Amino acid sequence: MRLAKFLAHAGVASRRAAEDVIRAGRVTVGGEVVTDPARDVDEASGVAVDGEPLSGPEERVTYVLHKPAGVVSTARDTHGRPTVVDLVPGGARLYPVGRLDADATGLILLTNDGALAERLMHPRFEIPRTYEAVVARPPVRDRALRALREGVLLEDGLTAPARARRLGADRIELTIHEGRNRQVKRMCEAVGHPLRSLHRTRLGPLSLGGLGPGRHRRLSGAELKRLRKAAGQG
Ligand code: URA
Repeated sequence: MRLAKFLAHAGVASRRAAEDVIRAGRVTVGGEVVTDPARDVDEASGVAVDGEPLSGPEERVTYVLHKPAGVVSTARDTHGRPTVVDLVPGGARLYPVGRLDADATGLILLTNDGALAERLMHPRFEIPRTYEAVVARPPVRDRALRALREGVLLEDGLTAPARARRLGADRIELTIHEGRNRQVKRMCEAVGHPLRSLHRTRLGPLSLGGLGPGRHRRLSGAELKRLRKAAGQG
């Protein structure tokens, strides 16, 4: 791989900035200063920056986290609230895949694999997301379920067909594959049942699998494989 790319993958700097670091003579390969960003290197080449050896591209990791209520799903919060990234020790370089509202709970992915994250969030792949919603004004009638299934007119247009089933008088399971802002909240409101609480149980082929609130686990190889397949990478 090109030296500049190797540095970027190792988290030294962006590829563009890495080229400047190289041209400045700060990088050695096998102990010799190299100023050509296109030099071909790999993990065995002994690349060092300012004398510090680099171990090569950062390992790609993906975690599933059970987000508790009150935690925001951005990488950093401007109001100093706890974030999902804070819940994974050593997770500073991870970022969340998509969003869950601060008061919502349940499954969220954290990864440093930019390509995978991008695909999972891209509408083209229509990754289904399943939620359990507790709603006001019970009971939820068939008419409301039918509307949720067939499409609800929101201010940003009609929702795509969804799966909806009643779990109890005030409880619905809803599976959608669009990622509009606060979509479940707005869909429930539109059918006359404002949301009381929201919990995400599944994302594509993944489920929490008994993970308690605030807990995380690294995806197994089999889970990653299924996820990549769902995101068109498999
Ligand atoms: N829909 C919502 O309304 N909120 C979420 O957090 C996710 C989906």
